[in-house]
Amino acid sequence: LASTEVDISKIAAGQAIKTVWRKQPVFIRNLTPDEIKAANSVPLSELRDPQTLAQRTKPGKANWLITLGVCTHLGCVPLGTGEGENRGPFGGYFCPCHGSAYDTAARIRQGPAPKNLVVPDYEFVSDTTVRIG
Ligand code: FES
Repeated sequence: LASTEVDISKIAAGQAIKTVWRKQPVFIRNLTPDEIKAANSVPLSELRDPQTLAQRTKPGKANWLITLGVCTHLGCVPLGTGEGENRGPFGGYFCPCHGSAYDTAARIRQGPAPKNLVVPDYEFVSDTTVRIG
């Protein structure tokens, strides 16, 4: 399948799910206001792969962070979508393979990964449905 539709109506603020698109894991996260604030308070000069949260989300939908669940170091699946999983020191995702830590915009902040988690092509089909791909 070239694209996949996902119902996001059950993802509460602060939660994330893992889905699959083109055999790759995709993370869909509903950021809390504090997580959005944390992402927006980081100076771009501190970022290895400088991007704002606004560049990584859709207009008016800054709380919906959709990324591939593939670490940009060597491709492990980072932790942070499951209940109680380690989200790492920057509160986003944490790759247990070699310790790459991503922030609440899924930007690389620490460890060997060179790039932010990749934002795939997607669009909102409705307020509760996202089409990825
Ligand atoms: Fe994620 Fe190496 S594969 S840190």
